[in-house]
Amino acid sequence: MIKKNLESKVALVTGASSGIGKSVCERFAGEGLDLALAARREEKLESIADELRESWGVKTLVIPTDVGLEKEVGEMVEKTVEEYGRLDIVVNNAGVIRYGKIEEFSTEDYKTMMETNCDGMFYTTRAALPHLKKSDGNLIFIGSFDANHPRSFNPIYAATKWWTRGFAHSIESIVGGDGIAVTLVNPSEVRTDIKDGKGKKYKEKFDPEEVIDPEEIAEAVYFAACQKKSTTVSQIDLFRRDKMSDFF
Ligand SMILES: NC(=O)c1ccc[n+]([C@@H]2O[C@H](COP(=O)([O-])OP(=O)(O)OC[C@H]3O[C@@H](n4cnc5c(N)ncnc54)[C@H](OP(=O)(O)O)[C@@H]3O)[C@@H](O)[C@H]2O)c1
Repeated sequence: MIKKNLESKVALVTGASSGIGKSVCERFAGEGLDLALAARREEKLESIADELRESWGVKTLVIPTDVGLEKEVGEMVEKTVEEYGRLDIVVNNAGVIRYGKIEEFSTEDYKTMMETNCDGMFYTTRAALPHLKKSDGNLIFIGSFDANHPRSFNPIYAATKWWTRGFAHSIESIVGGDGIAVTLVNPSEVRTDIKDGKGKKYKEKFDPEEVIDPEEIAEAVYFAACQKKSTTVSQIDLFRRDKMSDFF
């Protein structure tokens, strides 16, 4: 396989304090990448960063960020480039889910999902593109199974993920010619801290062999990031094997 060597490249991961984002950081650290870890919970980020430095000897930069806040996102990207002098990979991963009957759905929950899942990915992408152009870098989005299908139990979350799919592929059509590889990774259920409608975390709700583990999504992200310069992995759908039978 012709593989890009990722050692000494720099990755910025949003939602790095938990679940998929944390696993992506671990996978990248194992390949020798230096990392910028962003999310709101600073303590969690610090403890993950400490572990990565000790285990892999990589450099880490913790940047407490709310991706729904334009200014903070701009600073997140600036600080990364200031610290490392380059930016090679951005993983647009931070996301939230809220539940409720559509007739009773609170405006606050609606806004939280839109601001995190859509606005955050836009702000991050806008700030990162100039730097990724310089590095022929990778822009990787975490979408969802719900980015491809109507979801009667959660239309707003599904809509944010349809937005992500539309945005990711549209950006791909613009910046592919500039040398940036854009990838959308769509998982079905992953064993993380994300919660179901009853407040139960997926990592407690599902056994390890039952659904996807976050390390598998990290492997998909790594696969996308290590393609040679002229190749992109446009989309990876990683589904529970019997997921499609949910529809029948
Ligand atoms: N788990 C699944 O079944 C599944 C399936 C398909 C897609 N996904 C997608 O995968 C992505 C990661 O989710 P996960 O499953 O890993 O869930 P998770 O364990 O709950 O992690 C979510 C991450 O997003 C961060 N985050 C939330 N709001 C944020 C904000 N306003 N600003 C910055 N960071 C924020 C959280 O950090 P802080 O709280 O510290 O800010 C946390 O690090 C999401 O986009 C989710 O929609 C998950």
